[in-house]
Amino acid sequence: MPNLRLSYFLERAKAIDLPRVWRMAGSIGRQFRKPRLLVLADMLWSSARYDCAFQDFQDWDFAILSPAERRTFITHPMSNRYTLQLDTDKRANLELSDKLRFNARFGDVLGRDWLDLREADDEALRAFVDRHPDLMAKVPDSLGGKGIERIRTADIADLTAFRRERTRNRQFLLEEFLQQHPRMAELNPSSVNTMRIVTWFDGSGAHILATALRIGAGGDVDNFSGGGMYTMLSREGVALCPAFDDSNATHGIHPLTGVPIVGFEVPLFAEALQAVREAAARIPEVPYVGWDVAIAPDRPVLIEGNYNTGVFQAKPSVSGIRRGLLPVYRAAIGR
Ligand SMILES: Nc1ncnc2c1ncn2[C@@H]1O[C@H](COP(=O)(O)OP(=O)(O)O)[C@@H](O)[C@H]1O
Ligand SMILES: [Mg+2]
Repeated sequence: MPNLRLSYFLERAKAIDLPRVWRMAGSIGRQFRKPRLLVLADMLWSSARYDCAFQDFQDWDFAILSPAERRTFITHPMSNRYTLQLDTDKRANLELSDKLRFNARFGDVLGRDWLDLREADDEALRAFVDRHPDLMAKVPDSLGGKGIERIRTADIADLTAFRRERTRNRQFLLEEFLQQHPRMAELNPSSVNTMRIVTWFDGSGAHILATALRIGAGGDVDNFSGGGMYTMLSREGVALCPAFDDSNATHGIHPLTGVPIVGFEVPLFAEALQAVREAAARIPEVPYVGWDVAIAPDRPVLIEGNYNTGVFQAKPSVSGIRRGLLPVYRAAIGR
């Protein structure tokens, strides 16, 4: 553990992008009326003291937290370490990170049709395209919304050219574009809005560590990269506070639809928790997982499972909650 920690720190020290950190210090300083240099010093010191990335310092508003409050936040380096220490079966991890394998393994809870382009002959591809007016093409081993493309099948003029282009982009996975529950669509119709539910499977049962609701904003995907935002959910599946996006902007109501985010209640939430508990028990070799869960009109469905999940937590300046989820993680995982 100390070695791992030291190497992490050295890695991060090497990778410091000073202009970026200086910019972050500037915007945090402006937001909280603190001298930029002081914020920068605090960021550098905190990265060692609280094991946090600069992004964590910004995301969890460390600038306004006391030392005791800061210590309750799980950070990205800590979550990476949980992944390294807990999800040690590399082959099993692939069952999640390879979206084709994931779909094959969890086929009964996907709620959508899909096809492996490399296995489908022209007839199968034609039938798939004819069945679905709207598709998602995915690079099987990608993350963060990268390589994902929405395709209206009416736009496909030539199936051979379509196959060639998908193959060139390594978009070997084609999925039916999922229809989401009308209440989820109301919030933002441009993308399927998913929950990120982080679980720890202790060998006999799954603990729910975090539940966030991600919401797209005009893009085809709800990831940060697609302009998306997220907010944390209560145990009953109600959004507790405004959402925030990649550029630190906060949204109490959705910027495009005007639907209130605070107080939004995720439909079929209890069923969704049950679905991830069952999913976690189906792959105990990977005990620490962040699941992407969508709500279809009649049931929750799994989009994917991430063994290398990021951190989702309430942002103090937005939520008024000055306590992070680290105690929850520690109590469940036992370290
Ligand atoms: N079949 C689908 N239909 C509609 N939207 C989808 C579908 N699959 C994924 N999405 C959208 O794209 C986002 C990213 O997909 P995901 O498979 O989780 O890839 P990544 O690993 O890049 O996060 C999802 O959160 C959801 O908003
Ligand atoms: Mg995802």
